[in-house]
Amino acid sequence: MDRLHITGGTPLNGRIHVSGAKNSALKLMVTCLLTDQPVELTNMPNLADTRFLAQLLETLGVEVYWPKGSSTCHLNAAELKSTIAPYEQVRKMRASFNVLGPLIARSGHATVSLPGGCAIGARPVDLHLKALEAMGADLRVEGGYVKAAAIHGLTGAHINFSTVSVGATEHAMLTATLAKGETILENAAREPEIEDLANCLNSMGANVTGAGTPIIRIKGVEALKGTTYAVMPDRIEAGTYAMAAAGAGGDVTLDGCPVAALGAMISKLREAGVTIDADEAASTLRIRRNGSPLKAVSLSTQPHPGFPTDLQAQFMALMCTAEGTSIIRETIFENRFMHAPELSRLGADITVRGQEAVVKGVHHLTAAPVMATDLRASVSLVIAALGARGETVVNRIYHLDRGFERLEAKLGACGAKIERRSGEDE
Ligand code: UD1
Repeated sequence: MDRLHITGGTPLNGRIHVSGAKNSALKLMVTCLLTDQPVELTNMPNLADTRFLAQLLETLGVEVYWPKGSSTCHLNAAELKSTIAPYEQVRKMRASFNVLGPLIARSGHATVSLPGGCAIGARPVDLHLKALEAMGADLRVEGGYVKAAAIHGLTGAHINFSTVSVGATEHAMLTATLAKGETILENAAREPEIEDLANCLNSMGANVTGAGTPIIRIKGVEALKGTTYAVMPDRIEAGTYAMAAAGAGGDVTLDGCPVAALGAMISKLREAGVTIDADEAASTLRIRRNGSPLKAVSLSTQPHPGFPTDLQAQFMALMCTAEGTSIIRETIFENRFMHAPELSRLGADITVRGQEAVVKGVHHLTAAPVMATDLRASVSLVIAALGARGETVVNRIYHLDRGFERLEAKLGACGAKIERRSGEDE
C-alpha cells in the first residue's frame, strides 16, 4: 500500500493548476446514459473514482474511450447491454447509485445496489428514492438492491426535499430531463456542481432552469442529444491547496481556480490572517502568509454557499497551530471528525463533543506516523504534515488517490518535501 513521506517546515512557493472537479465529473459522466449519441467530457480529472465509474458504465454497455492520463473522456451509450449496477461497484463508490434514475428513464427499468453507509456517516438514499417514486417509478428493495420499473414511463413531479442533498438533487434532475411534463425541485441543493450538471444537460437539449437556486424546474423533453462539455474546476481541490499554502506559509497562486465558488472559505482564511488576492476574471487565487501565526477562527459547515463539509478537515488542520481556540461544527455528516485523533498524534489539542470539535492552538505540530481514513481527512493530514516539525508518514493514501490528481507532484512543484513510497504501512 502506498504512503506519503512528508518533511514539514518548508514554505510553499509557486503556481498550482486546479484540475476538473471530481464531484461534478461523476454526475456529468452519468448523463451519457440519457442519450444514444456520444458525450465527450473535457477537463476530466484522472482519479480512482472517475476511472471506477467509467468501469461501471462499461458494465452497462457504454463504450468508453479514455486513454490513460488523458483529460478527455468519450462516452457512447448507443446501446445498453445491462441495466444492473452490481453491489461490488456501487459499494466502493456511492456516486454510482446515480445511474438508477437515468437507467429507468432510458430503459424503463433498472436494478441498482444500495450503496450502504460509509466512514463519514449513514448516508441514506431515501430522498433519491422518494424523488424517483414521485416521478412514477415503482421501487422494491430486495437483497440489498433497488429493483425499479416505470412501465408507463416517468412523469414530472413536484418534489420538496426535506433535507438539502446534493446527490438527491442531481439524481432527480438527471432523471426528470426525460420525464413527461414539468418537474419542480424545492429545497434543492445549490452547489456549483449542480449548475455544472444543469449546463451540461441543457447543452444536450434538456430544459433545466433555476440551478444554483433552491427551486429548479425541469421540463421533460422527448430525447437528448450528444455534447462536448468541459468539467468545471474543482473547488475542493483548490480550497485544499489554498489551505496547504496558508498552513505551510509562502506564496502560492492557483490557476484555473473557481474563485466565485470559494467565497466562504476565502473569508474564513482572511479572518485567520491569511492574505488572499482573488481575481475572478482571471480565475486566479493568490495565497500568502509569511511568518505571522494564524488566528483561531470558528466555523460551522453548511450547504453551499456556506462553508463546505469537504473542506472542514483541512481547516481543522490549520487551526491546530492557530493562536487561540477554534470551535468547528460539522452539520452535514454525523461522523466526520476521524481526522481529529490522527491530528492529535501530531500533537494537536482537539476535543470532540458530538458534532463539535474544540481545537486549542498549539505552538507547533511534531511528525508521527498517521493513517488516512477518508478522502478529505487524508488530505488534512498532508496539510498538517507540511507545517509539522520532522518527517510524517501518511499511511493508506489510496483514499487520496480517489480525489486528488497528482497531489505530490503539484505540491512538490511548490517546494514541498513530499514523496510517495510503496510497501507496508509504517
Ligand atoms: C456530495 C459530495 C460530497 C459532499 C456532500 C455534501 C459527491 C460525489 N459527493 O455527497 O463530497 O461532502 O455532497 O456537500 O458529489 N441525506 C439523506 N438522505 C438522502 C440523501 C442524503 O438523509 O437520500 C443526508 C446525508 O446523509 C447527509 C446530507 O443529507 O447528512 C447531505 O448529503 P448529500 O448532500 O446528499 O451528500 P452526497 O450527495 O452524498
